[in-house]
Amino acid sequence: MSTNDADDRDEHDEHGTHGRRDDRADGHARFPTETPAVVTCGLPYANGDLHVGHLRTYVGGDTFARALRTLGQEVAFVSGSDMHGTPVAVNAWQEGVSPEEFALRHHEKYEETFPRFDVDFDNYGHTRTDANVELTQAFVRTLDEEGYVYDEEIAVAWDPEEEQALPDRYVEGTCPYCGAHARGDECDEGCGRHLEPGEIEDPTSVVTGNPAEYRTRSHKFFRLSEFEEYLGEFIARLDGTSNARNQPREWIEGELKDWCITRDLDWGIPYPGEEELILYVWVDAPVEYVASTKEFAESSVGSDNAENDESTANAAGAGSAGEGFDWERAWAEDGELIHVIGRDIIQHHAVFWPAMLRGVGYNEPRAILASGFVNLDGKAFSTSRDRAVWADDYLAEGFDPDLYRYYVVTATGFQQDTDFSWDRFQQRVNSELVGALGNFVYRSLLFAHRTYEGTPDSELSTEVRERIEAAIEDFEESVNEYSVRAIGQAPVELAQFGNEYIQQAEPWKLVDDDPGRAAQVIRDCVQLVKAIGVLAAPVMPGTAARLWAQLGESGSIEDRGLDAALEAPPANFDAPPELFERIEDDRVAELNEDLQARIEESAANPDADAREGSHEESDTAAETDLEPLTEGRIGFEEFQDLDLRVGRIEHAEAIEGSDKLVRLEVDIGIETRQIVAGLKQLHDTDSLPDQKVVIVANMEKAELFGVESNGMVLAAGEEADLLTTHDDASPGTRVR
Ligand code: 2FM
Ligand code: ZN
Repeated sequence: MSTNDADDRDEHDEHGTHGRRDDRADGHARFPTETPAVVTCGLPYANGDLHVGHLRTYVGGDTFARALRTLGQEVAFVSGSDMHGTPVAVNAWQEGVSPEEFALRHHEKYEETFPRFDVDFDNYGHTRTDANVELTQAFVRTLDEEGYVYDEEIAVAWDPEEEQALPDRYVEGTCPYCGAHARGDECDEGCGRHLEPGEIEDPTSVVTGNPAEYRTRSHKFFRLSEFEEYLGEFIARLDGTSNARNQPREWIEGELKDWCITRDLDWGIPYPGEEELILYVWVDAPVEYVASTKEFAESSVGSDNAENDESTANAAGAGSAGEGFDWERAWAEDGELIHVIGRDIIQHHAVFWPAMLRGVGYNEPRAILASGFVNLDGKAFSTSRDRAVWADDYLAEGFDPDLYRYYVVTATGFQQDTDFSWDRFQQRVNSELVGALGNFVYRSLLFAHRTYEGTPDSELSTEVRERIEAAIEDFEESVNEYSVRAIGQAPVELAQFGNEYIQQAEPWKLVDDDPGRAAQVIRDCVQLVKAIGVLAAPVMPGTAARLWAQLGESGSIEDRGLDAALEAPPANFDAPPELFERIEDDRVAELNEDLQARIEESAANPDADAREGSHEESDTAAETDLEPLTEGRIGFEEFQDLDLRVGRIEHAEAIEGSDKLVRLEVDIGIETRQIVAGLKQLHDTDSLPDQKVVIVANMEKAELFGVESNGMVLAAGEEADLLTTHDDASPGTRVR
């Protein structure tokens, strides 16, 4: 059987369906490998509060790192705060404090928050540690010595009133590629491209609001163009989510420009030997992945290093000391490097970073897992409008972090955007965690305790042994296919089987008439509970630990591998408490009201103290440029004339010659329709197959670019946010 459903298939498109792959098409050995692995999570800019949307990448990375360890893989799980660059400098300036003070304050807050969600980095450092400054400068020196760096005079944006340069986020304007409003170094509201200094059109100073002028300055450039051929080959080998391969292909196949790696800024790491030039933040940020691993490897419990102010080794999370972890082997030789990031920073990780690694003679990333964003009730989180569920607020509500971990990991395939709503959260917690997993564990252990004081003395049945073996095999496969969602689904799927099994066997009726069979069924159930605990540990570590204790197991479940799932459970254990609590309707109503009130209050006081944030997602268009409502009403009959159907995209391909159009084949139950839709610039074509959509089935046929379109796909707004269904409505179902 397969733990994956269709929504997840996009994560491993090249390999298609399940089935053990001993010879991987990409040439990488299967996990667990003989070599050490490093799992990294994108460094959050130390400039704002964390909301549950930010947490998706970190919970995903943590779940994946734990799952790898469950397979027996040696792993270092690292990250740190991104202290430099204009994302920090601009926000600190707005607050009137020094960037150092500002960044450290946020760094300390992150360090404290991640472990509260059980995101347990082995090392959580930051980009100003001695380790990172030294390593970054060593990287740059090597690149320079190898001839990959040259000087060039360029025109940089300049504020004439303040007499200061305007790098990156100090300037805003228009993206030269797609025309969207953009920041100086990033088209954050449009095509997502990185922009080089001087590229942005109609630049305006963020400091004074004046149109920017240009000044000529000498800067350092990295010869990225020399890596074009290498990067093409690298992308072909790259594992992980398909968006991380597909987006960069376009950039690499176009003209790969050299990359300006210095800035006129007084906040950051100086270019070695040229103190007045500061390295671009995207040079020192990924090097922190290496520095953080090194700090982990050099840490040992109680050593000076762990307590040194300059080093934050092991500060976040309960990570074990990394003595013995061969960081140099992992990074410079043959380790398995896996980057878990948000989908907005693919270019940096799939183009700039591998070129830097290659330039210094290091190893290359094996996989990039790029997560979609989390929206709130269909719209982007907005930190400045306080339209967000803050990590602190979630915890202050007394919710178990595992509930959110499970919810976000299993909501959709990792690379797809997903939605957070308290209603959906409640529904999934109540049905999947309380109703399926919690219920099965509780009823099994309670029955076992009351009747046998623990595990009955009976053999495990072949049926249940084989079911657990299949679950283990699926779990191994899911890890090898980087399917974070399937890893998260595994324990609930096994619990669903358990519930059906116990319901069918009705051991409560057998105790008197057929005690042998009753004991066998309960033995099976207790074994299933143990296996569920093992499979739950990566996604819900706290729950798994509680379950382990309920079973009367000693030691930590985290130290146990998959084999533990089939080892005999203890003969005695106590009556269990419930694992989860139902979330009641009135609680959700209150949460919704609070959230709504906050959003309204913030909208009424647009200048009120906004919470800063590294990813101020482009919510402005969605919220300010709303079309006025249409005047006049239609009758129900007129609405009935629209034949709206649920469809599932089976195939998607760009239409040659068109900037926007994609040819889709959409299964609508009764037949498969060919539909042409303008999705090319807004969606990754390869991520479309398997997505559920809503179509107008009785739309007049049209011909676009010579291709017949037989129907229309519904999407919202400028971003063409595709309409979908959130439960099991199958293709062909009428939408009313
Ligand atoms: O986009 C961001 O939030 C960056 N701070 C991510 C840096 S990840 C890395 F490369 F270090
Ligand atoms: Zn753009």
